[in-house]
This record gives sequence, structure tokens and C-alpha cells, in this order.
Amino acid sequence: MKAVVITAPGGRDRLEVQDLPEPDLPAGHVLIDVAWGACNWGDIQKRQGVYPDPVDYPAILGGEVSGRVAQLGEGVSGVAVGDAVAAITGPDMLRGFAERVAVPQAFLIPLAEGLDLRAAAAYPVVSLTAWHLLHTAASVKAGDVILVHAIGGGVGLALTQLGRAAGLRVIGTVGSEGKGRHALDFGAERVIPRDSEDFVAVAMEVTDGRGVDLVIDSLGADILPRSFDALRPFGRVINIGEAAGEPDFAVRKKLYERSTSFAGFEVLHAEPGSPRWRASVKGIAAHIADGDLRLPIAEEFGIDAIRDAHEFLESRRASGKVLIRVGGA
Ligand SMILES: NC(=O)c1ccc[n+]([C@@H]2O[C@H](COP(=O)([O-])OP(=O)(O)OC[C@H]3O[C@@H](n4cnc5c(N)ncnc54)[C@H](OP(=O)(O)O)[C@@H]3O)[C@@H](O)[C@H]2O)c1
Repeated sequence: MKAVVITAPGGRDRLEVQDLPEPDLPAGHVLIDVAWGACNWGDIQKRQGVYPDPVDYPAILGGEVSGRVAQLGEGVSGVAVGDAVAAITGPDMLRGFAERVAVPQAFLIPLAEGLDLRAAAAYPVVSLTAWHLLHTAASVKAGDVILVHAIGGGVGLALTQLGRAAGLRVIGTVGSEGKGRHALDFGAERVIPRDSEDFVAVAMEVTDGRGVDLVIDSLGADILPRSFDALRPFGRVINIGEAAGEPDFAVRKKLYERSTSFAGFEVLHAEPGSPRWRASVKGIAAHIADGDLRLPIAEEFGIDAIRDAHEFLESRRASGKVLIRVGGA
């Protein structure tokens, strides 16, 4: 079968499409004929060798897919061969950009009403991340103001819409002018280009000087420490990534300045398969069916053009999901 392999950490030239043997099907797993995959920032980090969890190279890239069930492993029930599904590929989020992938049943997601396989590949990671940020890591309440960095990206757009659906006021930052268009369409109150406006000043302005309740930071670097200045007293920053680089700051000093708190978040720690996880999958499907959660496809690439897909994501031009056509027409 065709698969996207990273031979060793490094540049885009380390990505190869290889012909590999079919995967094994362990007990409790489901074999999927992959139609579409979707790229995440974590794919870039795995390729570069900077992903927080260790990766054994060579590895098959790809952490989320859609497709049809091809075979059931021992002990699997409640799903049938031929079912259309989406999935996160497992706790290591690898092996998805291949014609077939074996996925633990807990990571399988029934196709939400109204989605075809192409659209379905766009949802799992970013919508579950946004859901559990708002409702598990934080317990937001209607009227809260949240500030989302990189609001034009997949996670940012999911946070915008699920936040609005929960009655929040949502503001956010983008790295370049124009990248906030979708976020504004989806109900963000204000999008702040970080290179020309001070996001702390805007956060204070929209909250009449009080500060926002919650900041979701995926950037790190100097943006993370500055984010504490945008909070109200007892507000909170949740960090989910370091796309702009590792931050270097005196955490304790920052926390004491406004009695704020700081948390990290990893979506896979929201316990795939647990009752809480299943409730989030249902909740997201309901929002998709109601039309209040939509994820734009920024671009799609054939599996052979995986290097172009990485180039596009790294260029920071993507507002929405980047799809990989594996077997899908
Ligand atoms: N912890 C978790 O569970 C979890 C789950 C999913 C995603 N994440 C993280 O959430 C973030 C968003 O994920 P996503 O897949 O939706 O990606 P994305 O937002 O589509 O892409 C990453 C964005 O980061 C911004 N960025 C800022 N500085 C950058 C730099 N130096 N290089 C590259 N990008 C930079 C860019 O937006 P601007 O140009 O607008 O700043 C870029 O579009 C990523 O950092 C990802 O690792 C974490």
C-alpha cells in the first residue's frame, strides 16, 4: 500500500511516498480503507523532530483520517464493515496517510449527519481539541470573554464556533492581515493582527479594562508571557503548543502579578472512548448537524504532493484544514 513516510527528522525532503506492507490488525482495532487524511501542526513537528513525544523513525505520518471500515479486529462490536467513519489514528497520531490504517476502536468517530468523507476528515482533532479546551480543561460560562491566538487556524476556527455556541465572546490574534476573515464570519468579535496591533490593549478595550477570562495560546515564544497581561485577575492561560518557539519567562512572577493561573492541555488526555469523550463526539456531531460548526478546507493535496502540503501549512497561509487525498475521489 502507498504511505507517506518520514525517513528521519528534518526538512520536507525527508517525506517520501513508499510502497509498504498492509498493517497488522490487533485485537480491539478497526482497519480503515483511508479516503482522506488531514494535516495538523503536529505533523510538521514530527517531521522536524521537535514533537514533544518521541517518534521512532522511519514513521508513517498522519494523525486523522476518514474512510470506510475494511475489517474488524477481535473483540470489536458496534461497527460494521463498509461503515463510513472518521478517526484519530491512536495515541501517537501516526500511520494515517496510508491506504489502510488500523485504529483502536475508542478513536473511531461515526460520520456526523450531513458530512461526506472529504469534509469528515477535517473535524476530529481540531473540534475535539476545541471542545475539551472549553468544557473539560476550562469550564466556560456564557458571557465569558476568550482570546484565541492563531484564531484563523483549524483549532482557532473550531474554538470560535464552539465558543459562540456556548455564549462566549471571542476575540483572537492572527499573524497576518486577512487571515481573520473566517473567524469574523463565524462570529469572532475582533481579530487582531499581531504585527500591527497590541493584543493586550485590545483585550482591555473590549472588556472595559477588566481583562479577558481565558487565553488559549498555541504560539509560545514571547506571546505566551504577554498573554498573562491580557487576563482579568484570577483569569487563566491554557497553552496547547509552541508554534512560534519555546517561551522563556519567569512563570511564578507572571502568575502573581494578577493572581492568574496557567495550564497545559493535550486533547488525547481527554480519554478517548470514555463517557466524557463520547459525549464530546455527540455534542460536536449535533453542532455540525445544526450548521453552527463548519471547518473550511484551506487546500487539498494528493498523497504524492505531501511535501507541497507541508510547505503550504508552514507558509502560515492556511485558514482552515489542509486535506490529503489518499483513496478518496
Ligand atoms: N495540545 C493539543 O491537544 C493540541 C491539539 C491540536 C493542535 N494543537 C496546537 O494548536 C495549534 C494550532 O493547530 P492547527 O493544526 O489548527 O494549526 P494552524 O493554526 O492551522 O497552524 C498553526 C498556526 O500557528 C501560527 N504561527 C505563529 N507563529 C508561527 C511560526 N513561527 N511558524 C508557524 N506557524 C506559526 C500561524 O498562524 P498565524 O500566522 O495566524 O499566527 C499558523 O497558521 C498548533 O500549535 C498545534 O500544535 C494542540
